[in-house]
Amino acid sequence: MKSVCGRVLSCLALAAAGMTTTSALAQGEVNVYTYRETKLIQPLFDAFTKDTGIRVNVVSAANGLEQRVRTEGANSPADVLLTVDISRLEEAVRAGITQPIKSELLDKVVAPRYRDPEGHWYAVSMRARIVYASKERVKATALNYEDFGSAGLNHKICIRSGQHYYNTALFAAYIVKHGEAQAEQWLRGLKANLGQRPSGGDREAARDVAAGKCDLGIGNTYYYGLMLNSAAQKPWADATRVILPTFKGGGTHVNVSGVVLARHAPNKANAMKLIEWLAGEKAQQMHADLNFEYPIRTGVPINATIAAFGALNPDPMPLSSIAEKSKAAANLVDKVGFDN
Ligand SMILES: [Fe+2]
Repeated sequence: MKSVCGRVLSCLALAAAGMTTTSALAQGEVNVYTYRETKLIQPLFDAFTKDTGIRVNVVSAANGLEQRVRTEGANSPADVLLTVDISRLEEAVRAGITQPIKSELLDKVVAPRYRDPEGHWYAVSMRARIVYASKERVKATALNYEDFGSAGLNHKICIRSGQHYYNTALFAAYIVKHGEAQAEQWLRGLKANLGQRPSGGDREAARDVAAGKCDLGIGNTYYYGLMLNSAAQKPWADATRVILPTFKGGGTHVNVSGVVLARHAPNKANAMKLIEWLAGEKAQQMHADLNFEYPIRTGVPINATIAAFGALNPDPMPLSSIAEKSKAAANLVDKVGFDN
């Protein structure tokens, strides 16, 4: 196994990134570049190291990791990129920094619509884009995404920037369902239904519903669990009730977190061990309980807070078709002046 510090350039890059570069454990190491929050992933990596003896070196960033791996080229120490959102996974593939993950185990565990047909990315957890509805002002217990853009909605919506990738994925899914012309009309309708200019993150949508600025907040499933477990944010969750919207004649919009195997992974065998471990029962249960995500693996219990929303019926469209329309969705957001 090649050591990270065997290459001067990589070693410097790791030192600059604040990564530990002391000698690896006997079982070696694996280098992970990630956009995910440390609070979730560190317990996962600690458990992996405990199970396998393989040390995990982490480089965290808010953006630019694909570019960084590309710039590092054949000398890149990156083994695995762990990220959220289908468009980011596809971006990594388009950047040419991935190689196919060949794993019979993963093919058994991860349904085809949650992995790249060529194996360049695999999802490891799921989240749904849902509604935090005012307990006080909203009587409806079911909604269609189509309703968000309806002139007859009679409820105000709070949502983060239309350009955030959680929203462009939802809007891209709408394009896949209804075509671009109808999606544009719908997005204009959604803009007209906003209670305020798009702002904040998903949790702030619940906060603003609690404050009476809107009746419906749009956000991801796991934030509801995170709010309930934060003293400061619990009142936001308590003021709202979750509705799992569906497309008319379809299911609920689901996005994923996932992994790619770096094209020049210096510790490929360990990278594969980590990737397969992330789809294992222990890691899946940690995704469910630490971050309130839906396990990608069937048979792993969903956290009780999330299970209480009711059964999730994920829309059957392949995620790769959503990624194909994400640029078109971003263009529509600009065209209708969604954030203005
Ligand atoms: Fe998030």
